[in-house]
Amino acid sequence: MGPAATAPGCVLAFDDEQSMGAALAEALGVPLSLIARHRFPDGELRLRLPAELPPCTVLLRSLHQPNEKLVELLIAAPAARELGARRLLLASPYLAYMRQDIAFTPGEAVSQRHIAGLLARCFDAVVTVDPHLHRIASLDEVMPGSRGIAVSAARLIGAWVAQRVSQPLLLGPDEESAQWVREAARACSPEADHAWCVKQRHGDHDVQVSLPPGLRCAGRAVVLIDDLASTGRTLMAAARLALEAGASSVDAAVTHALFIGDAITELKSAGVHRIWSTDCVPHASNALSVVPLLAEALRRA
Ligand code: R5P
Repeated sequence: MGPAATAPGCVLAFDDEQSMGAALAEALGVPLSLIARHRFPDGELRLRLPAELPPCTVLLRSLHQPNEKLVELLIAAPAARELGARRLLLASPYLAYMRQDIAFTPGEAVSQRHIAGLLARCFDAVVTVDPHLHRIASLDEVMPGSRGIAVSAARLIGAWVAQRVSQPLLLGPDEESAQWVREAARACSPEADHAWCVKQRHGDHDVQVSLPPGLRCAGRAVVLIDDLASTGRTLMAAARLALEAGASSVDAAVTHALFIGDAITELKSAGVHRIWSTDCVPHASNALSVVPLLAEALRRA
């Protein structure tokens, strides 16, 4: 395929992601086209794409509340190819199902592998932000053919925090968060103090967190850093411990603001003051845009 065919020629977004679609299209210097959706009374979907697509098309779909969106992608990807997109890139700021990376009980499906594999079969490349990679080192292990491209918002978050919190102590609420906490700390100048807790999850809303031994929180402005918050229980547990240990304040910054149900209210009552997130998942806490990161990765894809 020649170079003209490999440079993105348009961004295709679903009608509910028009504003991020427009920002991404502008960053790439290409037009935005929309996919209109209709839901039939029986729940089936009808999608309407533009009648013609350029040889290289970027499809934007963030995968929070993922199940229906995955069906949309299963229909939209082959349809886009039929309409001219010989090279089809998925920009998925939040990639769902990445936490189910092991069979915790015999027979349990390792959803990470299967969802990643499915997307790799539909798209030539999948660009995402801070996928939850815990027991695997890179997306390549679950997305065959080097199709997965992960960029990180951790440095963006670190720089944001550095501008707002003087001498912060960056604290990850669990071991997995170490990768993002380290990067965020490096983006502060001088490098911010940082550490991470140890977590045990007993259920969807039941987590137990311990501070790293010897960590001094007294009088410190603690900022919790994680890739995602869902029920918010992980951040809540870490916030309570930091405050009990004498932290002068606790703020939180995450890449993916799922914040299900009462998460924000509960976080506030646990003493978390400010909550910041990127726009990977639309939420009132969104403060940072990942569009420049996505655009840069898509140009290189
Ligand atoms: C998993 O380890 C993730 O990094 C998050 O810490 C976790 O998924 C957050 O979940 P919740 O907000 O429901 O505690």
